[in-house]
Amino acid sequence: MRVLGIETTCDETAAAVVQRETDGRGRILSNEILSQIEDHAPYGGVVPEIAARAHVTALDRLIAEALRKANCRLADLDGIAAAAGPGLIGGVIVGLTAAKALALVGKKPFLAINHLEAHALTPRLTDGVDFPYLLLLASGGHTQLVAVRDVGDYVRLGTTIDDAIGEAFDKTAKMLGLPYPGGPNVEREAQRGDPERFALPRPMLHRPGADFSLSGLKTAVRLEAERVAPLTPTDVADLCASFQAAVVDVVVDRTRAALRMHRERIGNPTALVIAGGVAANAAMRRALQRLAGEAGLAMCAPPPALCTDNGAMIAWAGLERLRRGLVDPLGTPPKARWPLEPRAESA
Ligand code: KG4
Ligand code: ZN
Repeated sequence: MRVLGIETTCDETAAAVVQRETDGRGRILSNEILSQIEDHAPYGGVVPEIAARAHVTALDRLIAEALRKANCRLADLDGIAAAAGPGLIGGVIVGLTAAKALALVGKKPFLAINHLEAHALTPRLTDGVDFPYLLLLASGGHTQLVAVRDVGDYVRLGTTIDDAIGEAFDKTAKMLGLPYPGGPNVEREAQRGDPERFALPRPMLHRPGADFSLSGLKTAVRLEAERVAPLTPTDVADLCASFQAAVVDVVVDRTRAALRMHRERIGNPTALVIAGGVAANAAMRRALQRLAGEAGLAMCAPPPALCTDNGAMIAWAGLERLRRGLVDPLGTPPKARWPLEPRAESA
């Protein structure tokens, strides 16, 4: 089975073809991506209108390229998948409409994919992880600890009550004058900084439940930055290192709490999985690896290129759904909000 996956929910235009082998494993035949970072950099963040226009300009070419590199034509595909949300609505409409047009012309099943579900199922593509597993999904827009019981069966154990983890990295970067996107730049600065120079708070540490709160930490960074201003390169590096150390401590504590909840409510998970853009952070990966080791669990973190937004994860989620007969009508609407767990009020 082969599916084309299209991703346009944020600032990456992406198209990929993924094949499901007879043994159930996935094989990425092509994975084309065009980052709009340069288009948005002057504004210090993603501008929805610019993103939507850039998707329109680039998407046809990326799809053609994805098919060419996979050495297949529309007729060779078994389904067409696109992220139908959650995300910036203008961009979602572009990808969804393109996928519908291809499905209609090619008479192929259409799959409207939840972008979060695609992140959540990626470890099954990269490592063949079995259900149930504990997922930490940490990106620019989302922070969730989820028990992944099956395709379409998710139990949210924790979320953020204010900023997403990636958002906290991005805002910290902006405050310190580092270029957009913040995460990778904060990580680079942190590598040469002193994580103990600034005593930053660890919000929610040891609280019941597995929720996060990160806005207080962000404010604490701002206050410290104002206190030592004007900032030298060493100050910036030390602030980044101190911030990253605080975030990692919080993430480890909340993940440990979610693991306990998973064991109580659902049973022992097969693995701890991290996904989303923040999972590209090496310090975070190391700390969670240690936590998984202590808990006697395997840890799985997809390679960074498959942690951040991409087309292969959409194609793979499409394959997982197609195999279960979960196809969608062409009238499926785009969704700006779309929680992974239907009972949750917010994503
Ligand atoms: O999953 P993703 O590509 O897009 C969203 O759906 O949001 O995640 C992007 C987020 C951004 O906030 C970015 O700053 C963060 O992931 N990020 C990182 C790193 N690489 C990307 N955060 C911390 N360390 C990194 N190395
Ligand atoms: Zn994402």
